[in-house]
Amino acid sequence: MLWFRLTRVCTCLTPFLLLLCSNAAATEHPIAHDGDRATLEAFKAAIVRRSGALASWNSSTSYCSWEGVTCGGHRHPWRVVSLRLDFQGLDGTISPAIGNLTFLRSLNLSYNSLQGEIPPSVGSLRRLQYLNLQSNLLIGAIPSNISRCASLRVMRLADNNGLTGSIPTEIGDMPLLRILYIANSSITGAIPLSLGNLSRLTVLALTNNYLEGSIPASIGNMVQLRILELYSNSLSGLLPSSLYNMSSLNELYVANNSLHGSLPDDLGTSLPSIQRLDMASNHFTGAVPSSIANLSSLQIFEIAKNKFRGVFPPVASLQYLQWFDIDLNEFETKDEKEWEFLTSLANCSRLQLLSIAWNRFTGKLPNSLANMSSNLRELRMFENGMVGDIPFGIGNLVGLETVDIIYNLLSGVIPESIGALTKLNRLFLENNNLSAELDASFNSLDGPIPSSIGNLGELLVLALSTNKLTGVIPKEIKNLSSLSIFLDLSYNLLEGPLPTEIGSLVQLENLAVSGNQLSGEIPHEISNCIVLEMIAMNGIKGLIQLYLSSNKLTGSIPGDLGNIGSLQELYLAHNNLSGPIPKLLGSSTSLLILDLSFNNLQGEVPTEGVFKNLTGLSITGNHELCGGIPQLHLPKCPNPTARKNDKTVSMPLRIAGVTIGAILVLISGLALALFLYRRYKAGMKKEQLPSHFTEIDIPIVSYNEILKGTDGFSEANLLGKGRYGTVYKSTIENQGVVAVKVFDLQQSGSYKSFQAECDALRRVRHRCLLKIMTCCSSINHQGQDFRALVFEFMPNGSLESWIHSSTETQNGDKTLTLAQRLDIAVDIVDALDYLHNSCQPSVIHCDLKLGNILLTEDMRARVGDFGIARILSEAASGPSANPSSTVRIRGSIGYIPPGNSSTLPVCFS
Ligand SMILES: *[C@@H]1O[C@H](CO)[C@@H](O)[C@H](O)[C@H]1NC(C)=O
Ligand SMILES: *[C@@H]1O[C@H](CO)[C@@H](O)[C@H](O)[C@H]1NC(C)=O
Ligand SMILES: *[C@@H]1O[C@H](CO)[C@@H](O)[C@H](O)[C@H]1NC(C)=O
Ligand SMILES: *[C@@H]1O[C@H](CO)[C@@H](O)[C@H](O)[C@H]1NC(C)=O
Ligand SMILES: *[C@@H]1O[C@H](CO)[C@@H](O)[C@H](O)[C@H]1NC(C)=O
Ligand SMILES: *[C@@H]1O[C@H](CO)[C@@H](O)[C@H](O)[C@H]1NC(C)=O
Ligand SMILES: *[C@@H]1O[C@H](CO)[C@@H](O)[C@H](O)[C@H]1NC(C)=O
Ligand SMILES: *[C@@H]1O[C@H](CO)[C@@H](O)[C@H](O)[C@H]1NC(C)=O
Repeated sequence: MLWFRLTRVCTCLTPFLLLLCSNAAATEHPIAHDGDRATLEAFKAAIVRRSGALASWNSSTSYCSWEGVTCGGHRHPWRVVSLRLDFQGLDGTISPAIGNLTFLRSLNLSYNSLQGEIPPSVGSLRRLQYLNLQSNLLIGAIPSNISRCASLRVMRLADNNGLTGSIPTEIGDMPLLRILYIANSSITGAIPLSLGNLSRLTVLALTNNYLEGSIPASIGNMVQLRILELYSNSLSGLLPSSLYNMSSLNELYVANNSLHGSLPDDLGTSLPSIQRLDMASNHFTGAVPSSIANLSSLQIFEIAKNKFRGVFPPVASLQYLQWFDIDLNEFETKDEKEWEFLTSLANCSRLQLLSIAWNRFTGKLPNSLANMSSNLRELRMFENGMVGDIPFGIGNLVGLETVDIIYNLLSGVIPESIGALTKLNRLFLENNNLSAELDASFNSLDGPIPSSIGNLGELLVLALSTNKLTGVIPKEIKNLSSLSIFLDLSYNLLEGPLPTEIGSLVQLENLAVSGNQLSGEIPHEISNCIVLEMIAMNGIKGLIQLYLSSNKLTGSIPGDLGNIGSLQELYLAHNNLSGPIPKLLGSSTSLLILDLSFNNLQGEVPTEGVFKNLTGLSITGNHELCGGIPQLHLPKCPNPTARKNDKTVSMPLRIAGVTIGAILVLISGLALALFLYRRYKAGMKKEQLPSHFTEIDIPIVSYNEILKGTDGFSEANLLGKGRYGTVYKSTIENQGVVAVKVFDLQQSGSYKSFQAECDALRRVRHRCLLKIMTCCSSINHQGQDFRALVFEFMPNGSLESWIHSSTETQNGDKTLTLAQRLDIAVDIVDALDYLHNSCQPSVIHCDLKLGNILLTEDMRARVGDFGIARILSEAASGPSANPSSTVRIRGSIGYIPPGNSSTLPVCFS
């Protein structure tokens, strides 16, 4: 054991010992041999230094100890043998003086910003074995006398966009070359025949250039070649037959060219070592030979976008196959036997991608699909003519992330087993091609949407349109809050209401349920689909397109739709919607297309926003509309009848009033004075209704900024802790000191709380409410979701600290004067009055307590923490409507004063 540890220590020390020795060697010849100093200085002079690069290259030390410089050799210890300056931020040019470093064996200047041409003088570096100039900004042609570097084994010139001209023929004269990268540049001309003389080459990469002409047969002479990368050029002609004769070849990439010809029958024996074969996007034709089954090392088989045809042969023996892509060819199946290849793929236990889309596969989709590898991640079979059911066994393929079977003629139900595919990101089951859509007799999926769909918690896209799905939209969609790209259920036979659970899909950008039999009202929760315009600015876009046309929806259009700051297109045509067109739709700054045609809408057409312009507006087929812009040719509206506000204060509001009273007692016991004051205030003008957040310039704050601003969420910056999150003091650039509420997303309900708070704050803006500055919806460094809200910082903390310290410690500084108490009470009442009476719909705070009342520098109150706030829907007939059911008290335990139990129902969930 001890011995083992000693050896370990020694092994660890060895590099340091070596380093010490080499430094000692260098300093043995401090000035005597200054041979390469001038060259290095000339090299340095041509380089523009950025942020201290090459700082160690100064006269106070021997050049052999300069960064990146290695001297060596037995007889010439002072000569530079290696120059390694990759990732040094070097700018400027490569000095031609480099040619004087004639002992150089390795030159690595990769990943810098070096400009200019490659100096032809590199041809003087006869001893050079390794040359790496990859990822710079070099331009011009590759100097032909680079071929004089007769010892060169590795030449990497890739990723220099400006390298032009053709590949010098002379490169064929470098007999020792093993690795040659001239990729991602602007090289033109043909591949020189002479390359075939590089008989030791193992890697040849000429991808992403403008090479033309055919691939020279001489490449077949590179008997050690393992990797040949020629993709993304303009190569034409046949693949030379010699290429199919390279028993050493592991990887062959010729995709994205204009090659033609067909695969030789003996493919399976001629390329015995092939692991990756990529021939996509060419003009290859003919059948795939059955000998392909002998390519026993094959991992990647990619021949998409060609004109291969015929029946695909069975491939059961390809045990390493991971990627099988034959998209966009002309392969076919007519009967069960011809599907054998698919059945055989079930033996390929490493298979991750199976893509046979855009071919001529007809007949019944084989049940053997269910036997595929559970490693399968992507299943793409769209645009074929397949019929039959989706096999129930698809639930076995638990690794699936993408399933795309659109544009086939599948029938039967969506199997309940789909719920087992919990890793699914994208599920496309739109059926029927365009012609089938016109003919109702065509096959399509039917039956209900299985409720197990709610298990697919990672879905980004769910597309089930144009089938004959029946029943209601399952409430379980509320679990699909990951849905962000689109949810398309349009053109089915779905009925019942649009579930309010749709409001849980907070990241959704496109929602389409047109062409169903949906009834009932449009749930106002739909506007939750975007939590807050601010979030949109932090990456989540929010609802952009909403398609509800051609259903049986009734009731009025929720004005909230105008509050979705991202909404650009709204389709509500061909429903039975009634009532007025909400003015809010006109104040939306994002809305570009609005189709309200063929409903029973009444009253005045707004004239602002989308209503200003006929281009995006359609309102025909509504017979009781008036007003609008003159181009609409609608009748004038009658004078607005003074619509008296229904002044009967609703139950919840009255109850909330009682709450206010309780607070007042709690704070100062000056209820009477306050009441008088409040009456006086009531005479004053009400605050303006909130306008849209989109009009405010909202700063964006990132996770990193918050992390930095709070010193990594340090204890020192902790301001308070609540059920759903922790509040920190933070300094953020351009904002100064702020308070950041970081949600604890492990805590169940905290997403909801974040959403509730955003949702409430989206609607409210008042002097006496804690001002939200921005929010952050992002991912932390562990890759987990991160949600935070940024508020103005309240230097005097919460009211609780004042009340408690004054009663418990009698601390002189922390007592509130009578005037202050009155001011604070007034502020709170103002805020609540605003929330209850001026907000449409009303907002109920539900968690009003001392700790949530914060004090500004001049001791005015701000009401904060809307984490469990409730928004009363206008239509709600009051909470007493559901007196039974599971009653759960919202809010902080311990706050709600006994005797005020009548306040409870307001905040039930
Ligand atoms: C490189 O060597 C040549 C002659 O061999 C000489 O003329 C030139 O000055 C040298 N350059 C540097 C920078 O040392
Ligand atoms: C010169 O290089 C040495 C390291 O080789 C470094 O410690 C020193 O700071 C450098 N001097 C200057 C003036 O940059
Ligand atoms: C050259 O630099 C690249 C990029 O950092 C590095 O991966 C490679 O190992 C280096 N090679 C030599 C021989 O210095
Ligand atoms: C490389 O060729 C250029 C001209 O093409 C010539 O000026 C230069 O001297 C040559 N360098 C060497 C080392 O032969
Ligand atoms: C060329 O660029 C592509 C895409 O940027 C990159 O994936 C590839 O690694 C590059 N090839 C070489 C040889 O640098
Ligand atoms: C390649 O090698 C052959 C001999 O094998 C020779 O005749 C030919 O000249 C070489 N080609 C080039 C371009 O050097
Ligand atoms: C393939 O290689 C064999 C020997 O390995 C040789 O006889 C034959 O000519 C080669 N075929 C082609 C087309 O290069
Ligand atoms: C109407 O909208 C279209 C596109 O939405 C736009 O191109 C056009 O300029 C607008 N016209 C007016 C008068 O605003």
